[in-house]
Amino acid sequence: MSLTPAFLDELRARTLLSGLVAKTVKLQKAGREFRACCPFHNEKTPSFYVNDDKGFYHCFGCGAHGDAIRWMTDQRGLPFIDAVKELVQAAGMEMPEQDRRSAEKAERAKGLHEAMEDAAKFFIDKLNGIEGAEARAVLKKRGITDETARAFGMGYSPDSRGKLKEALKGYGDPMLVEAGLLISVEKKDPYDRFRGRLMIPIRDVRGRTIAFGGRIIGDGEPKYLNSPETPLFDKGRTLYNLDRAQAAARKSGRIIAVEGYMDVIALAQAGFAEAVAPLGTAMTEHQLERLWRIADVPLLCFDGDSAGQKAALRAAHRAMPMLEPGRSLAFVTLPDGLDPDDLVRAQGPAAFEALLAKAQPLVDRLWESEIAAEPLDTPEQRAGLKRRLAALADGIGDSNVKHEYLAEFRERADLHFGRGPRNFESRPQRGGGGAPPARGKRDKRGNWVPPEPPLTQQTRSLQAGGLDPILAKAVLAGLIRHPAEIARHMEVLGSLRGASGALGKLFEAVVDVALEDRQLDRTKVLTILAKSGFDQMASELLRADTLPFSFTRPQAEEKKAREDLNEAIAVMVARPAVDAALAEATAAMLERFDDESFARQTALLRQRQELETRLANLMLADDENLED
Ligand code: UTP
Ligand code: MN
Repeated sequence: MSLTPAFLDELRARTLLSGLVAKTVKLQKAGREFRACCPFHNEKTPSFYVNDDKGFYHCFGCGAHGDAIRWMTDQRGLPFIDAVKELVQAAGMEMPEQDRRSAEKAERAKGLHEAMEDAAKFFIDKLNGIEGAEARAVLKKRGITDETARAFGMGYSPDSRGKLKEALKGYGDPMLVEAGLLISVEKKDPYDRFRGRLMIPIRDVRGRTIAFGGRIIGDGEPKYLNSPETPLFDKGRTLYNLDRAQAAARKSGRIIAVEGYMDVIALAQAGFAEAVAPLGTAMTEHQLERLWRIADVPLLCFDGDSAGQKAALRAAHRAMPMLEPGRSLAFVTLPDGLDPDDLVRAQGPAAFEALLAKAQPLVDRLWESEIAAEPLDTPEQRAGLKRRLAALADGIGDSNVKHEYLAEFRERADLHFGRGPRNFESRPQRGGGGAPPARGKRDKRGNWVPPEPPLTQQTRSLQAGGLDPILAKAVLAGLIRHPAEIARHMEVLGSLRGASGALGKLFEAVVDVALEDRQLDRTKVLTILAKSGFDQMASELLRADTLPFSFTRPQAEEKKAREDLNEAIAVMVARPAVDAALAEATAAMLERFDDESFARQTALLRQRQELETRLANLMLADDENLED
């Protein structure tokens, strides 16, 4: 660029920024500055400031920041050189002499723009003429109204090699080739690029046609033929329909990126004016940046097929280095086989709105794809997951966001493996429950004593849905030792009557005993149990004073033992239901990977963890075991 820094400084100095901004934004005086609601993001209270002394604007809400030139490029959407030119003119200055070359280039661009506009008009004429009958039928079949077709400037390129060339011959072949309208092959005369296609003009932010997409009528390859890159058209920096979507998106605070032109058009017709599309390529940084200038959390709504979902994930990864506080992406997943166009046509706007409302946050999309990427059955595989997640988070540029992601991923991984923050021993099933957070103790010398392995083993619930045999044994032993408690818990104990196995039978017998006689003492219980053939089991239970609970110990203090027993019964009764629900939720999550099942699994894991903690708190530590 041949514009010198000195020239640009002069230009900035001669431009009154507040005057420039005030052309599009209503400014309020605020001390030495001006204040307004930020034009770069949606807000209700003004956090956008313009400072004429310093010559820049700044938004404390979204961080938009720049000088007069930046204002012209970012807010008005002008290319840099056009921004400078407009400011130069407004300031009554002259473009510097040495900038002749870019002036020439701009002159040529002007010619290209005109050629494109004329081409667009030509295509529209053809759509409305005799040759356009088939294309009009296609539009009709797709449910596109005349009004929509007009708004989007749709047209038709006749199936001929020379009609456009002839109509635009005033520009000369070289310019039409440069505009991408003609194809030039060695030794052949340049000929029309678009033939027999439904034409969709691609416009820049100022609404000027810079390229075309041409859809084949009927089936054939390629389905869409697009303009090549030209001086006007930089695919990676263009978003289809941004010119029209911008205003609507600023108003609604929402911008939706979809995959195809037709999706954008169908959505606009269905009332979603704020949709744009990348142009048959992966979403670029530039395109993401553009989306973020409009909304903090653009919605990516790619097709439900695997290509669409891959594209969504690629965009997610690409966005990572660019994340900032408050700035993210969300993902709308369409049913497999449907694109937004199909969906609104088949199910109406409400169905699409419902999908938008369920948009999945970036963090969830990344998490889901990572846990689904590889099996997680071995410690090495799980460590691999953690490493992948950490690497993903590490790619985030903003340190605050990065740390939030690191913490969130760590927490999710721990929860997912059913593990509290402390140690664990084994996992009964993938993604399922796990061991309780075993509680260690200080010994008499104050040294930390981890819980004994057998203890952890004992309290581990064996299977989702079943009674934990160790806990059940302890509770039975406790009930026999403290028979008055049987009556108090009659109802819940009764609900265990169906429990299978010897323990279940014993529970049943104990409840029956209590039903017969409410004034029970231990001897009576034992006598009655003996009569039912449970004498051996019962006396074994009474000897089971190695179980680490106060209520199984003969020497325990009565009040504490009863309280602990109550608590143990509560945990024992609650656990099978939580385990069963958790197993179900885990299966559902592994199958569906959606927000809802993830949230449910997480909630159940928490409940389960709470039960484990309550139980761990009941268990006596080593030193207590040895006491008395
Ligand atoms: P799709 O194949 O999903 O097309 O391509 P679509 O939008 O659903 O089109 P219809 O409904 O069949 O008419 C999505 C986008 O990918 C690009 C285009 O930008 C298209 O809008 N594309 C697709 C191409 O550039 N070339 C192609 O051959 C196909
Ligand atoms: Mn489609």
